[in-house]
Amino acid sequence: MTDRIQQIREEAEQAITTATDTQTLENVRIHYLGRKAELPNLLRTVAELPASERAATGKAANEARKALEAAIEQRAQHLAAVELEQRLERDRVDITLPPDPRHDPGRLHLITETRRELEDVFIGLGFNVAEGPEVETVYYNFDALNHAPTHPSRLMTDTFYVAPADDIFDPNARLLRVHTSPVQVRAMEHQPPPLYIIMPGRTYRPDNDATHTPQFHQIEGLAVDTDITLADLQGTLLAFARAIFGEEREVRLRPHFFPFTEPSVEVDVSCFNCTGGLTAHGLRCPLCKGEGWIEILGAGMVDPNVFAYVREYGYDPEEIQGFAFGMGIERIAMLKHGVPDLRMLYDNDVRFLEQFG
Ligand code: DAH
Repeated sequence: MTDRIQQIREEAEQAITTATDTQTLENVRIHYLGRKAELPNLLRTVAELPASERAATGKAANEARKALEAAIEQRAQHLAAVELEQRLERDRVDITLPPDPRHDPGRLHLITETRRELEDVFIGLGFNVAEGPEVETVYYNFDALNHAPTHPSRLMTDTFYVAPADDIFDPNARLLRVHTSPVQVRAMEHQPPPLYIIMPGRTYRPDNDATHTPQFHQIEGLAVDTDITLADLQGTLLAFARAIFGEEREVRLRPHFFPFTEPSVEVDVSCFNCTGGLTAHGLRCPLCKGEGWIEILGAGMVDPNVFAYVREYGYDPEEIQGFAFGMGIERIAMLKHGVPDLRMLYDNDVRFLEQFG
């Protein structure tokens, strides 16, 4: 009887090692250890054997069953691991394939698109791009830009001061810059003339309505050299206006006041929605309100008082001149694309955003 047990055991062990998948292995288990299998049957009938054979047969059968159970368990684990590996191999995702259905890869926000477009225009004219901090000091934001102590934009109601600002006249008091103009001063401290730079960036003011958001964007321009005149400013801005709003555009300069330029001007571009304020149907143009001109930026000749703050860096007001300008990026984007409300740029409604970029 023990010979037969040994034979079953060897046969079963053979079948276990040659089973190459879990289903086959399960069949092997049923065949050798299942309820109707020979070995368990034998175990159940050990009691009926003659007393002399009982002990040896029982022991051999029991050992054989345990050994086979262990061998099957081991083989099952091995096959499960192999099969998992194969499944993962088959399921591998090719992330380089285009998605199905195809997804829009995304696009630039209108403000980013406009900023880059403006940068391209001025880079093409020979300007470099410079940047400065958004958390500024009173010195750079106001003092060194020739703002009188009484200038209204210094007030708490017009500027976000960074706590704790107990003294808003302290040159070191911190604020969120109200314009990109402080970068002019920082850039001049950094590099002697000639200097031709534009300075894009975020700016902050406590305003909120259809044409103002507390955070917005500006692009500042600064050219410093010998023999710079207002005509250079006008020519530069004409090239910019034509590149952005169309080749037929004209610009006009109106006298204005800014603390850091003298003389100062506001710059208008001829309306690109009408001729002389009248639409093709003879109606008053809604974009320029019948004016024929649209205000786009502030500019002027750099005030010698500003150069005096950076004289030690090579900016002697007797030797050099400069022009400067500053414009709102949102305003340019809105004019160019007919966006009726500035806040749409910040609502993040994809139906709006997907029309640009
Ligand atoms: N900083 C001004 C503002 O925020 C804009 C400006 C006007 C910038 C004239 C200039 C400039 O550089 O010359 O309204």
